[in-house]
Amino acid sequence: MESDSLKPPPDSADLSTRFDNNSVDGAFHAIENTCTHRGGPLGEGDLNGEIVTCLWHGANFNVKTGAVTSSPAGTGVRSFVVKVEGNDVLVELA
Ligand code: FES
Repeated sequence: MESDSLKPPPDSADLSTRFDNNSVDGAFHAIENTCTHRGGPLGEGDLNGEIVTCLWHGANFNVKTGAVTSSPAGTGVRSFVVKVEGNDVLVELA
């Protein structure tokens, strides 16, 4: 049964989703796409383990928690619950 709050990710710049071979430990994770430093697109950043690096100025964020792990960003981004049901990847937006 699908929860009302679990939906396929929208075509939105607000979410960063990785659906390629860069998944972490075989799991999917979703965080906000907009870097808290100056708005860089985290979805285009390099992923190394569970750390994504913003391309604009190099801040690092944990893709599991959204926590910032290195400057120049001072605060983390939201992370979202992700659930896989068959071929569907659902992201809780609530
Ligand atoms: S915009 Fe991401 S580190 Fe500056």
